[in-house]
Amino acid sequence: MAARTDYDIVELISAKAIAARVETLAREIDAFFAPTEKLVVVGLLRGSFIFIADLVRELESPVEVDFLEASSYGDSTVSSREVRILKDLSGKIEGCDVLVVEDIVDTGHTLAHVLKLLAARRPRRLEACALLDKPSRREVEISARFTGFEIPDAFVVGYGIDYAQRNRNLPHIGVVRFRGEG
Ligand code: IMP
Repeated sequence: MAARTDYDIVELISAKAIAARVETLAREIDAFFAPTEKLVVVGLLRGSFIFIADLVRELESPVEVDFLEASSYGDSTVSSREVRILKDLSGKIEGCDVLVVEDIVDTGHTLAHVLKLLAARRPRRLEACALLDKPSRREVEISARFTGFEIPDAFVVGYGIDYAQRNRNLPHIGVVRFRGEG
């Protein structure tokens, strides 16, 4: 199905509110993992790229950064539920403290799949941090230990998050409102 272009974006979370929450999240993460020799921060591409960039700059723990890409919604606003790994980690995580960073936990399929995959590599500790959580949409019983904001069931864009690859560069997070759909 072709991506729609007839939509408006209504601000939901301001850039200032995001920055403040990222700072407090970093304090929670530092406190949880302390002391740690190194924290491997695994960004799930592509939606987490701005979040991870801001988050690691607020962390005081010694960090390494790696990336993993799982299949996403494509050009749709509906989850396919099938998760495929498109790009695996570059480094090894056995015996390491690992924090998976996701943009949004929606149905939960992506995070559940990725955590299972990484747990099999025997990290010392494995936790997840999601900028946004849509608990009302959950289909798999999973939650990130660290969450930035709980949001309602709406399709959002901005701060790295896209609709059909667009709007990642918005500094805030907004809800996509298709015209003619109330
Ligand atoms: P889940 O597997 O259903 O939890 O979906 C997780 C992934 O779906 C997220 O990492 C996003 O890439 C994508 N996603 C979920 N909700 C939204 C949204 O509102 N806007 C854009 N992408 C979304």
